[in-house]
Amino acid sequence: METFFLTTAIDYVNGRPHLGHAYEKILADVIARYQRSLKKDVFFLTGVDEHGQKVQQSARAQGVSPASFCDEMSGYFRDAWRTLNITHDRFVRTTEVSHKDAVRASLQKLHDKGEIYFQEHTGFYSLRQEQFVTEKDRVDGQWPEIYGDVVETKEPNYFFKLSKYQGWLISFLNDNPDFIYPSFRRNELLSALEKPLNDLCISRPKSRLEWGIPLPFDDGYVTYVWFDALLNYATFAGWGTEQNSWPADLQIIGKDILIPAHGVYWTIMLHALDLPLPRKMLVHGWWQMDGEKMSKSTGKSVDPLALVTQYGADAFRYYVMREMVVGQDADFSVEQFEQRYKSDLGNDLGNLVNRSISMAHRYCGGIVPDAPIHSDIAVQIQSTLAEYREKMDRYEIHQALERVWRLTRRANQFVEEQAPWKLAKDSSQSAKLAQVLATLLETVRVLAILAAPILPDTTAKINVQLGLGAASFNMDQVEGAASLAGTSLGQPEPLFPRL
Ligand code: MSP
Repeated sequence: METFFLTTAIDYVNGRPHLGHAYEKILADVIARYQRSLKKDVFFLTGVDEHGQKVQQSARAQGVSPASFCDEMSGYFRDAWRTLNITHDRFVRTTEVSHKDAVRASLQKLHDKGEIYFQEHTGFYSLRQEQFVTEKDRVDGQWPEIYGDVVETKEPNYFFKLSKYQGWLISFLNDNPDFIYPSFRRNELLSALEKPLNDLCISRPKSRLEWGIPLPFDDGYVTYVWFDALLNYATFAGWGTEQNSWPADLQIIGKDILIPAHGVYWTIMLHALDLPLPRKMLVHGWWQMDGEKMSKSTGKSVDPLALVTQYGADAFRYYVMREMVVGQDADFSVEQFEQRYKSDLGNDLGNLVNRSISMAHRYCGGIVPDAPIHSDIAVQIQSTLAEYREKMDRYEIHQALERVWRLTRRANQFVEEQAPWKLAKDSSQSAKLAQVLATLLETVRVLAILAAPILPDTTAKINVQLGLGAASFNMDQVEGAASLAGTSLGQPEPLFPRL
C-alpha cells in the first residue's frame, strides 16, 4: 500500500489554540483524509512544542511547575483537535522521554562530527521570539513589536555550523524547484540566502533556562528551542527504529516559520545528520483580522471553539478551507462566516440533500428507483471529479470546493427545471420522475464522497440518509460504485439548521 506521511508545525503551549493554529490542523486533516480516500496508508503527525523560556515564564506567573503547566495547556490543544475532528495518528509532546533522548543523540552525533562548537557571544536577545537578534533587525532604531522585550546578554554558547552549508542549500533549492509550495516562497528563501548565514546558537545556559533538554556533552546547558522542536518530525516518526516513517511527504507550516526555521535550520540539520529531506513543504499564509495577524500577542484572536459550539465543526472547517487560498493571507469575518453557512451550506448543499431525500419518500416510497442517470448530470459528475482531483492534488482546496459547489447548484437547478412535483401528477411521466429522482440521489451520493475530507460529520449524515450507513467511501467509488437502485433511504434531517 502506498504511504503518505504529513506533519504540521507543533504549537507553542503558552496560549490557547486560536484560529491560526486550527486552520493549519484542518488543512492537514483535509489533505490526510483526501489521501486516505485515495487508499493510501496515511501517517499524520501534529502536536505541541513545550520547552522554552515563554513556557517557563508563563508557568512561573501562574505559580505552577512548567511540567504541570504543559500538561494543562497541551490538553486544550488535544481537546480542540478532537472537537474539530482532526484525525492525526500521533500527538507530539516534546517533553516525551523518547523525543528528548533522540534529540540528545542527534546533538551528540553532530558534536562528534565537529558540526558544533563553543564560543563567547554577546548579543541582543528577544524574549518573545526566543532568539538572538542583531542591529539589522531594528526598524528606525527600535526593536519591532514582534520581538517583545529585547535584552542585551553576554554568554558563551554552543553553535551549529550553518554557514558551512549555505552553498549546498542554495543548490538544493535550485535543483528542486517543487520543494516549497507555493513557489514564490522558495524565491523568498533564495533571496534571503543571498546574504551570508550566521551559525546558529543552539544552547541556553541552564541558569537562564531550565525548561529544556540538557546537552549530552555539557550539562550546564539546554538546547535551544528550535533544535528541539524541529527534530520532533523525525523523532516521532520512529527515526532510528525499525518502524521509521521519515522522510515526510509533506510538511505544513505557516509563512512565519519558513525563514529561517524550516527553510534554513531544518533543511541543514537534516543534511548534516545524513537524514533525507522531506519531499515537500507547504507554506500557508496568515489569518488576519482587519489586516493584522491574528495572534495572542496582537490581541486579535478568534476562539475557534466558540464558533464550533454554535455552528458545528464542519461549518468551521468549510469556512476556513473555502475562504483561504492555500499560501495566501485571508481576512476572518464573522459576517462572511455566517453568509457561507446560510448560502453554501444551508441553501445549496443542505437544501439539495433535504429535498432529494424528501421527494424520494414522497414520490417513490423511500426506495431509490432503478433508472438511468440523466446524461447532462452524468457528464457534470465526471468533469467535477476530474477537476476536483486535479485541484486537490495541487492543494487548491478552495477551488476544489468551488467545483463541488458548482455541481451542487447545478443539481438544485435541475430540480427546478424538471419540477418532479409536476411529473408526479401525471402518470405518463413516471419513468421521467424515476430518472430525476435517481439522478438527484446519485448526485448527492457523489457529493458526499467529494466533500467528505472537508465535511466529515455532514457527509456521514448524508450517507445515513441515503441508507448507506455512516461508513466512508473512497474516491474510486465516485464512478466505480454499484447503483443505488433499490436502496431503502433513511429519514431526511436538516443538515444545517437555521440559527
Ligand atoms: N512552536 C513553533 C513551531 C515549531 S515547528 C517545529 C511555532 N508555534 S506557534 O504556535 O507560534 O505557531 C504554530 C503554527 O501556527 C505555525 O505554523 C504558524 O504559522 C501558525 N499560525 C500562528 N498564527 C497564525 C495565523 N494568524 N494564521 C495562520 N497561521 C498562523 O511557531
